[in-house]
Amino acid sequence: MSSEASFPDGQLRDDLISAALEARTAAYAPFSKYLVGAALLTASDETFTGCNVENSSYGLTICAERVAAVAAVAAGQRKFRALAVATADGAAPCGACRQFLAEFCDDLPILIVHVDRGNAVREVRLDELLPDRFQR
Ligand code: THU
Repeated sequence: MSSEASFPDGQLRDDLISAALEARTAAYAPFSKYLVGAALLTASDETFTGCNVENSSYGLTICAERVAAVAAVAAGQRKFRALAVATADGAAPCGACRQFLAEFCDDLPILIVHVDRGNAVREVRLDELLPDRFQR
């Protein structure tokens, strides 16, 4: 539908993917060894990045996507335009992150980067991943 948010293309898209890959190199994941990088483009044309940060008290672990979202919001940027997420196996964001991101943009375009497949990119929209989200 034409009213939906559009996926970034060209240099903007490449830069967002590169930022997610770069953020992934900072992942602190000594327990799972599963590295995640996220890069969030805001309406202000700024990019905020995050990586997963694990903890020896496992439940305190925070996902890369939420780190990026929190960085953007803390900088005053609540209008999210697109997200890139990079993992070895091209996994989609977890359920908690879907709900967290949908607070700010429920049709957020997401570029899922599959590192072990030559950085192949899959495009999904957040409302496809999380239909009928909780909202109030
Ligand atoms: N993780 C993320 O960073 N994002 C997700 O959407 C799913 C999982 C992290 C949490 C943990 O550090 C590792 O991946 C394995 O679950």
